[in-house]
Amino acid sequence: MEKIGILTSGGDAPGMNAAIRAAGKIAMYKGMKVFGIQRGYLGMLNDEIFPMDSRFLAGIVDRGGTILLTARCEEFKEEKFRAIAAQNLKKRGIEGVVVIGGDGSYRGADALWKEQGIHVVGLPGTIDNDIKGTDYTIGFDTCLNTILDAMSKVRDTATSHERTILIEVMGRHAGDLALQACIAGGGDGVLIPEMEDPIELLAFQIKERRKRGKLHDIILVAEGVGRVDDIADQLKDRLTTEIRTVVLGHIQRGGVPSGFDRILAARMAEKAIDVLEREEGGLMIGIEGNRMATHPLSYAWDGERNYNIEGDHDLALLLAK
Ligand code: ADP
Ligand code: F6P
Repeated sequence: MEKIGILTSGGDAPGMNAAIRAAGKIAMYKGMKVFGIQRGYLGMLNDEIFPMDSRFLAGIVDRGGTILLTARCEEFKEEKFRAIAAQNLKKRGIEGVVVIGGDGSYRGADALWKEQGIHVVGLPGTIDNDIKGTDYTIGFDTCLNTILDAMSKVRDTATSHERTILIEVMGRHAGDLALQACIAGGGDGVLIPEMEDPIELLAFQIKERRKRGKLHDIILVAEGVGRVDDIADQLKDRLTTEIRTVVLGHIQRGGVPSGFDRILAARMAEKAIDVLEREEGGLMIGIEGNRMATHPLSYAWDGERNYNIEGDHDLALLLAK
């Protein structure tokens, strides 16, 4: 394949730039001409496509966000707009595209491959870790560490005031960030959408902790469970401790990508360029059991993820006692 494009789509994630850099550099080494597509599918549709050179890729490996910019594009869900977007690629001779994004972006990528014949490879770029076919997504580890940093700060004030503090974290419909932050950050309780723990159980756990002499509680609440203030209201009826809430919000999406995310991004990008070099398409790259894996894009939304969430949930509650 002689000409390829790279785009980032959906919510940004730390490590996207490391993926752009690795994919771009490796493709250039292999003699491919590389194009940047700005603002995801929106830029593909609006013809915001430019030839990339190695200078564009310099100094970005440690930068959060995405230098290609990202966007959401409702029109891309319609075939007629995808055809226009594909035409913008074809007129430049671009045959393959590396799409870095979440499972929504993969759906668009799959349609681009099956309808328009563009060779597309998906790299999982999202803080949510919610993509089937990969144990980790690019950005998850950095985000987890941002949450851990926030937990330590919140704990200082929670201890001083002997309060119960609920921290709402992102993750869309997935509880990975909340659950793994609870385990790694010494959280005292966790609510995730996958488990539907009754509020009574959490209230009971907090009362038991207090009986054992604990002076504070840090509770992780995944956004998929609902608004943290509503949960706090429900807890207020059941507890006598003072309760406060923190919504970490978009702080979780930024920051210098961790070493893990940069390595993951580089390895996945290398695999993606391999796929395009072989003239294949319609595939996503993942890491499973510490090995690189490829699956059809549709694998991402077809069935349950291979994550032992019950096991981690049990572990989190055990450590929270
Ligand atoms: P993410 O990729 O992070 O899951 P979104 O779900 O917002 O983020 O999807 C990103 C973009 O992917 C959307 O704005 C749209 O352009 C495209 N997309 C999402 N779902 C579809 C779909 N069913 N068909 C075609 N394109 C889609
Ligand atoms: O998918 C990444 C994510 O940050 C989710 O965790 C969150 O639900 C959503 O995007 C927020 O989207 P926006 O940046 O459009 O508010």
